[in-house]
Amino acid sequence: MNPSIAQPQNIVLIGFMGSGKSTVGRELHQRLGYPLVDMDHAIEQRSGKPITAIFAEDGESAFRDRETALLKELNDPTAPRRIISTGGGIVTRPENRPLLKLLGYVVWLHAPAHVILARTRKTRNRPLLDTEDPAARIHALMQEREPFYQEAAHLKLDTSGLCSAELASGILECSRYFFNNRA
Ligand code: S3P
Repeated sequence: MNPSIAQPQNIVLIGFMGSGKSTVGRELHQRLGYPLVDMDHAIEQRSGKPITAIFAEDGESAFRDRETALLKELNDPTAPRRIISTGGGIVTRPENRPLLKLLGYVVWLHAPAHVILARTRKTRNRPLLDTEDPAARIHALMQEREPFYQEAAHLKLDTSGLCSAELASGILECSRYFFNNRA
């Protein structure tokens, strides 16, 4: 790598649906003042329709293409530091996992399946959980994805029992350490 080109110093949040990425992202944005990129929102804006409609009309694979395209665009070393909140399935495409790490410090927000179920039950904007048995779907997807989150993340944080302010404090300290010590 050319040493004169600085590596991006973003904070990137990954994790399952309902793990708290958007809430913690907003908290970090407020504390640090860095712009917040919510990838799901950005894709909705560009597509001119909500994620449910993208899945229904264009299919999941088209959504994943848009996700990867946005991830590549975000990898811009000249851009200001940002907080990047990803969609829960970003890790499923193998090419995305190294891209995430290139973007900066990657934090995996983790919560047990029963907590995810309770948090996601109230909303109907997640097409993958719009099934007869969301609990079974959550278990299956979590099992499939856990190794991918593990591979993509620098830090795994268990979110149960912690509020977003506490999580943000932990992330801030750890990311400072990471960026200060990165070669
Ligand atoms: C998805 C998670 C969603 C959204 C889409 C697919 C997934 O984002 O990107 O519905 O595959 O887990 P959140 O994690 O913000 O709910």
